[in-house]
Amino acid sequence: MAEVKKLSGAGLRGQSAGETALCTVGKTGAGLTYRGYDMAELADKAQFEEVAYLLVNGKLPNAAELKAYISRLKSMRELPEALKTVLENIPQDAHPMDVMRTGCSMLGNLETEQDFSQQSDHIERMLAVFPSIICYWYRFTHDGVRIDTRASDVDSIGGHFLTLLHDRKPSALHEQVMNASLILYAEHEFNASTFTARVCASTLSDIHSCVTAAIGSLRGPLHGGANEAAMELIQSMTDAEQAEQQIMQMLARKDKIMGFGHAVYSTSDPRNAIIKKWSKRLSEELGEDKLYSISERVESVMWREKKLFCNADFFHASAYNFMGIPTKLFTPIFVCSRVSGWTAHVMEQRANNRIIRPSADYTGPESAQWVSIEDRK
Ligand code: COA
Repeated sequence: MAEVKKLSGAGLRGQSAGETALCTVGKTGAGLTYRGYDMAELADKAQFEEVAYLLVNGKLPNAAELKAYISRLKSMRELPEALKTVLENIPQDAHPMDVMRTGCSMLGNLETEQDFSQQSDHIERMLAVFPSIICYWYRFTHDGVRIDTRASDVDSIGGHFLTLLHDRKPSALHEQVMNASLILYAEHEFNASTFTARVCASTLSDIHSCVTAAIGSLRGPLHGGANEAAMELIQSMTDAEQAEQQIMQMLARKDKIMGFGHAVYSTSDPRNAIIKKWSKRLSEELGEDKLYSISERVESVMWREKKLFCNADFFHASAYNFMGIPTKLFTPIFVCSRVSGWTAHVMEQRANNRIIRPSADYTGPESAQWVSIEDRK
């Protein structure tokens, strides 16, 4: 079981910033759970849509509820024309997380949340349409085509994403890996982006503002952006031996190795074993051992030298690469998943709200004397 760090100091480490019934992270005897269910069991047995339903609605759906839910989500994949126009005007070299942020914000202009009674509809719409947003922009700006985001008949959100991206139905294995990946990324307590969403929700702002703010937080390389940074690292390596040398040099320079370490876990991230297993399976299917063996070597060197372990992002890099997903789309996939956790937290915050407004320890001058502008140095 993953152990939790003894925490203190900056970054609000180790301080409880509120209550949640959604998730435990590294709790003794529990580990990572979503509403009491073991994340590893969900990743093994559930569909992502079941997990999203669980997070947002508080219980696992029965068969009829799941069928109706998936069918509703499928019916919401279409993009409004005005949103397509916006996406077509975002340059090819824009960061895809900026595309997600703008796409979400534009959606909020077109389908504004008027009051909280419709929040579930808006949440379902975002879950359904986010893969369409990123794939429409990507295919338009990179392949010069205007895709019909309703065209894919695949039920799953992960399968829908791959179909739009590659213009063909994914293999069963690829759909299965996407499903597990989306479940791993769905929820993680008061991480930076979720906390951002809750702070925004606590002002009684609208749901698109909460999610847009969260996307901005997730974009950074210390958070969601780590999977892209990990990919760039392993792709720069030629084989396991050279990877070991490169990591040793980077550690000597005190460089950060992206995809390692965690703000809460101290010895392992329970999500790593799951995505690592899928990465290995994909590498075997492809008959391509290089990236996987480099990744394994980096993992063992980091543990040997620094007792630092892979977090959820590290083996996601090779797994996504093996499925032919361009590196720049890695973090947007995280968005397509985490929107379930973010919005469940927004609902939870709204249900028992007090504006989040902490204090700060003042470190400035005790008192300063006013000097008129002519007399200032
Ligand atoms: N590579 C190299 N050194 C690392 C490291 C990494 N990935 N993660 C932590 N360290 C080092 C820190 O620099 C620090 O060294 P110092 O004591 O000499 O300053 C030490 O390990 C302890 O850091 P810690 O307090 O455990 O990290 P944190 O809680 O402040 O930050 C992360 C947690 C996740 C932000 C941090 O581990 C990190 O930046 N990882 C890389 C980015 C990443 O993968 N993010 C995704 C998180 S899911």
